[in-house]
Amino acid sequence: PETLEEPFLKEFPEYVEGLVRGDPGGFVLTPHYGEHAEELYNFHVRPDDIWVLSFPKSGTTWTQELVWLIANDCDFEGAKRDLNVRSPFFEFPYLIPRQEVSSYGHLPPVEKQMQIREKLESPRLIKTHLPLDLLPPQLTDTCKVVYVARNPKDVIVSYYYHHKLIKFHYFDGDMESFAHRFMKDQVWYAPYFGQVLATWEKAKNNPNVLFLFYEDLKKNLEGQIKKVAHFLGKSLTDEQLAKLVHHLTFENLSKNSAVNKEDGKKHGVFNADGNFMRKGETGDWQRYFSPEMSRQIDEWTELNLRGSDITFVDKI
Ligand code: A3P
Repeated sequence: PETLEEPFLKEFPEYVEGLVRGDPGGFVLTPHYGEHAEELYNFHVRPDDIWVLSFPKSGTTWTQELVWLIANDCDFEGAKRDLNVRSPFFEFPYLIPRQEVSSYGHLPPVEKQMQIREKLESPRLIKTHLPLDLLPPQLTDTCKVVYVARNPKDVIVSYYYHHKLIKFHYFDGDMESFAHRFMKDQVWYAPYFGQVLATWEKAKNNPNVLFLFYEDLKKNLEGQIKKVAHFLGKSLTDEQLAKLVHHLTFENLSKNSAVNKEDGKKHGVFNADGNFMRKGETGDWQRYFSPEMSRQIDEWTELNLRGSDITFVDKI
């Protein structure tokens, strides 16, 4: 990867110019990730690991909590511990400059982060936004992987607010400029469709990969919980199922301090305005995009989905 002058993050345009388009796959990440790419690629996967994969803002946290509870036999008491501890974010903080990591007093030094992941007790639940190409190559042949996807318009809106919330994005643009950046693959983890399509194809012929949609979780949470339980080989009593549905509603999860990431404010990582658990709706994009903007995103979506049998038409 290219190296950049610091501080490359201070201005969004500089930051975008500085994003690394790595191989394979041309995914967009930062040089700080580049320093560690090999270490992450060679990470030792355990057969009883469960990994939750997604493009940012697709319902990752929701899915992590759901999967953690099922994998841990509905241990609601244990689920009172911080989700970030129960289910670490694989590539973070390798994405941000070292000096920024050390300024977050609560985070261990970068060097310690991977050791912590390696020492976690089984079954580990690991979250990542990295595409399959950049993850340990044996991942989907070794352990279970749950992928969650969300319609791109709601992802754009949610990611825009995420950029406003998280200090180190230093983002000061408006929604429309953000949507254009998104479609030009100028955001972390872009291109969006690259990883969605690659995982969709992988899930077709690999029983270790379960592909979920945010919108299905919204429409039929109970049905999706049963699907995940079946995938993980777990059975649930009616009582557990009812408790899970209750626990996982937006209303309850957004009030749950072990999951809602409100402590990001205390640690100085988030701005005071806004919440990580923002709105939790399908179709919120309709409040933000003009008919012309919506048409452009549809066109971009259609172009990218040409030749694929995945569809978001019923998800919007
Ligand atoms: P919004 O910004 O649209 O509200 P991720 O965890 O991948 O970053 O995704 C965050 C998005 O998932 C946010 O979307 C958040 O509100 C939403 N979310 C989290 N928990 C949810 C729940 N229980 N029900 C619905 N949406 C949820």
